[in-house]
Amino acid sequence: MDVNPADYLSLNRSNWNSRVPHHVQAYDLAPFRTDPTHLSDVVRFDLPRLGVVSGLSGVHLQCHIGSDTVSLARLGAHMTGLDFSAPALTAAAALAHEAGNDVRWVEADVYAAAATLGEGGFDFVYTGIGALCWIPDVQRWAANVAALLRPGGFLFIREGHPMLWTLCDPRDDQLLVMEYPYFETAGTVFTESYSYVEHDEPLASPAIVHFNHSLSEIFNALWHAGMTITMFEEHQTVPWNAAGDAMELVDGGEYRLRENPERLAASYTLRAEKR
Ligand SMILES: C[S@@+](CC[C@H](N)C(=O)[O-])C[C@H]1O[C@@H](n2cnc3c(N)ncnc32)[C@H](O)[C@@H]1O
Repeated sequence: MDVNPADYLSLNRSNWNSRVPHHVQAYDLAPFRTDPTHLSDVVRFDLPRLGVVSGLSGVHLQCHIGSDTVSLARLGAHMTGLDFSAPALTAAAALAHEAGNDVRWVEADVYAAAATLGEGGFDFVYTGIGALCWIPDVQRWAANVAALLRPGGFLFIREGHPMLWTLCDPRDDQLLVMEYPYFETAGTVFTESYSYVEHDEPLASPAIVHFNHSLSEIFNALWHAGMTITMFEEHQTVPWNAAGDAMELVDGGEYRLRENPERLAASYTLRAEKR
């Protein structure tokens, strides 16, 4: 298939729309309906770093089907979830309704977040877990994050590490090889018929365009947007299986290299405050 990375927005949106029914089946959503204290593994992982969000006004950028957004609402935050996938937001709204949590859902490209939601209205922006890899220009993203926040407001992101995203798919010889860009480029096209959850039917829209951003590109983009990084922690684990047989499931829905996991920073948590 001849795919132009410049068509990333429509390609990625179609791809994400086509993942939604599979993710609704495969994500562990049932406990949200039966246990009002249940939180997603992703939000639970970062509870020691997140601090108190009760009473704060938060926006979750690229909220997908809402499991983390609902979890933040359960911690007492007044949440808005933003995503460019209408089916994802329909699923998110159904989850929030069934879970008994009040969340506002907004459909928009993340680059239009501040124009759509208004400037300076939020105490915090939450995002990550496979969010930055869909955005071509991290500076434009950081400008939106900063514009959404009031002065003193903060960004909280747990994200796949840019080193992780350089790695090839699992090879027969089990070597992990740096195959893809570490620095920001015009985008890398992949055709992937299956998402990161188990499902039988292949995806109807398998073409995607991925973007990586180095740590310094992310840090500098935030600084230039008026944000000061106040916490940065790298983790050996990541909340999805990002390396096939080379990874194993450990506690709390996290995956880690099966052998010598200290070789790889698989994810990070970053907090930054608007100056
Ligand atoms: C891997 S998910 C994020 C993880 C999510 N927190 C979860 O619950 O698994 C990536 C999300 O980004 C959204 N997305 C990708 N590109 C976007 C864009 N340009 N603007 C807004 N949303 C986007 C997709 O629709 C998808 O819901």
